Amino acid sequence: MLLKDKVCVIAGAASLRSIGYATAELFVEHGAKVVVTDLMMDEQVLAGIRSSIESQLKRPVEIHGLRCDVSKADDCDQLVRQVLDLHGTIDCLVNSAGIVKSTPLLDIGAQELDLMFDVNLKGAFFLCQSVLRVFVERRAGTIVNVASLAAQRGGGLVGGPHYAASKGGMLSLTRSIAREFGPMGIRANAICPAMIDTPMLDGLPADRLSGIIDAIPLKRTGTRREAAGACLFLACELSGFVTGATLDVNGGTHIH
Ligand SMILES: NC(=O)c1ccc[n+]([C@@H]2O[C@H](COP(=O)([O-])OP(=O)(O)OC[C@H]3O[C@@H](n4cnc5c(N)ncnc54)[C@H](O)[C@@H]3O)[C@@H](O)[C@H]2O)c1
Repeated sequence: MLLKDKVCVIAGAASLRSIGYATAELFVEHGAKVVVTDLMMDEQVLAGIRSSIESQLKRPVEIHGLRCDVSKADDCDQLVRQVLDLHGTIDCLVNSAGIVKSTPLLDIGAQELDLMFDVNLKGAFFLCQSVLRVFVERRAGTIVNVASLAAQRGGGLVGGPHYAASKGGMLSLTRSIAREFGPMGIRANAICPAMIDTPMLDGLPADRLSGIIDAIPLKRTGTRREAAGACLFLACELSGFVTGATLDVNGGTHIH
């Protein structure tokens, strides 16, 4: 049990095929008190998440679900207030909420650019800001931001240049948080996944997918549980002296 009784907020967990959901399942397995949040969260989605985790773990579990649009600062503040009402504290944030589009640069309009930055970059900023207010009071807490290989290599697999730029901003944000809040015992790290088997890969044509897989040294896509495992490591005390780091979860696609 690596997260026994730790209150963990996991954003971007509505789909049972998401990295966020897999992280919630793994964190519950490790004893965490998990609150899942998503733009698409409602009672029915939460019931599906709970029953899926219960059937995996073969025991009843306590898990809460709250709707939040991470691109809205007020929503993020309200989310944090609701988690505090439920559990009295927050120990960990995993921010896996995000959107992707593959539009080429010259075709990206202002509205599409705004949406990409609003969700992926400003969303991460607002959510971290809301949670950090709690962490500063406690002088403890861990943040794991789910960025992307796109931030490191200049997009090109699934995400376009606006996606890559938003995730690059997320990496810089994570490092800035690590530097500013490290003296208070607060850690912030990012993972850079690539080709994890989630709805984000659904739009890829089969021949494009097999071409990409051929170029991955491990010769396969990654599982959601493998991405969740990286989040678990960065969330728990095993990584107690790790902050400002970027952990690649890409099967060797980008070795640097
Ligand atoms: N799957 C991959 O190979 C891969 C690779 C690199 C990075 N990522 C990143 O991993 C994260 C999780 O993606 P996933 O692959 O699990 O796909 P996913 O689409 O299942 O998960 C993303 C979730 O974010 C939610 N979301 C979107 N906008 C939101 C908003 N404004 N407020 C709150 N929630 C919102 C969606 O509803 C969805 O449930 C994303 O940030 C994505 O960019 C995924």
